[in-house]
Amino acid sequence: MQADQKQMANEFLKGRVRVVVGDITKQETDAIVNAANSSLLGGGGVDGAIHRAGGPQILEACREIRRTRFPEGLPSGEAVITTGGKLPALYVIHTVGPIYGNQEGREAELLANCYHNSLTLAVEKNLASVAFPSISTGVYGYPRAEAAEISSRTIENFLSKDRQLSEVLLVFFGADDAKTFLENQKFSE
Ligand code: APR
Repeated sequence: MQADQKQMANEFLKGRVRVVVGDITKQETDAIVNAANSSLLGGGGVDGAIHRAGGPQILEACREIRRTRFPEGLPSGEAVITTGGKLPALYVIHTVGPIYGNQEGREAELLANCYHNSLTLAVEKNLASVAFPSISTGVYGYPRAEAAEISSRTIENFLSKDRQLSEVLLVFFGADDAKTFLENQKFSE
């Protein structure tokens, strides 16, 4: 396979979706999505990296959201948006992925909700580009192959009805994660 053809294999839906290997905190999209927990007060993995790179403004905004809208914490599948602080991205969309095996069989629905609700927020904010990490496939234990089917179907379904978002990046920390995604994604083109 030619290099450019291989590169092409990482693009879907006429280039509106691109799969990349890298650090989500470095992406220059309008928004990046954080794989948060319900406390919204930070954690490890992507969450820790985003708060470290974005600085205290993000945590302050999260605390305000907890105080005013979600005193009990952000439910799984929901998404909220804050400033991007010192990040290249203008905004961070925080979403809480399902903990695999811990949501009474609703894991697939909740994971789909994470992607759908994050994309909805990006469109509501009139953004043109958004980058996702591989939600729930780290600490939260979601099998990567199953997650790939859910995320790709949900993203395609959303973009089939949306004209505003011109770029959705799927950012994988490791090349093997990206490979597993590419082998299991269900994009129609
Ligand atoms: N950029 C892109 N992807 C990353 C980065 C990064 N800087 N750091 C980690 N990842 C990848 C992981 O390799 C994994 O594939 O993001 C994916 C999601 O992993 P987690 O960050 O563990 O997220 P999740 O599985 O959704 O668990 C969320 O972990 O960090 C805590 O506070 C967080 O409690 C929450 C839980």
